[in-house]
Amino acid sequence: MFKKIIVFEGVDGSGKTYHLNLASKYLKKKKISFIKIREPGGTKNSEYLRKLILSDKSKMEKKTDLLLYLAARCETFNKVIIPNRKKIILIDRFIDSTYAYQHYGFGLSMNLIKKINNFILGGVKPNFTFLHILPEKKLKKKISGKKNKYDKFKKNFYLKVQKGFIKLSKNNKKKYLLINSNNKKKVNQLIIRDKIDKLVKIK
Ligand code: TYD
Repeated sequence: MFKKIIVFEGVDGSGKTYHLNLASKYLKKKKISFIKIREPGGTKNSEYLRKLILSDKSKMEKKTDLLLYLAARCETFNKVIIPNRKKIILIDRFIDSTYAYQHYGFGLSMNLIKKINNFILGGVKPNFTFLHILPEKKLKKKISGKKNKYDKFKKNFYLKVQKGFIKLSKNNKKKYLLINSNNKKKVNQLIIRDKIDKLVKIK
């Protein structure tokens, strides 16, 4: 039913958005029909929820945060992902971010997140994920330049989140490619491009 859902994951500052943008330019050049979205976001309502969640002033309960992320996903899924299912869909963060941040980072129930994701997505899963990994020593440095409310968290939190992402990738190794953010950008660009060629069958 879905053409292909390709996700760019990783902790804040890991380079996922940079590489997603390059990938989208590449698909455009190759005249492949695609859409590019981010989570939370992608629709008027979910961008509104994004602002609410990420604003520094809204010191929300972590359970409230979880529900808002999932509410935003529900909007994005129904209003953007489903209508564009015949196109390649590039997403900046998806299901794994919720497991990595809300479960591995904040300790909320994995089972509950699974159930609600299933309720929203009805079993739809990404076809492939590029997981961007920041070397431990760079975790804090990179993050300190950013500005949403998660950026105040300690390095230890991001370590837990990153370890969570890696655990998730081990459940289904064929569907993940780990991108080492320590490599030169150009090297990673070519690694990602090569995989996209295969996923999208570009000759
Ligand atoms: P991101 O788009 O990477 O932020 P920025 O624009 O600052 O690069 O993601 C926003 C934040 O939301 C990020 O810190 C991770 C968090 N997040 C969750 O905690 N759970 C989720 O399910 C999602 C989608 C994002």
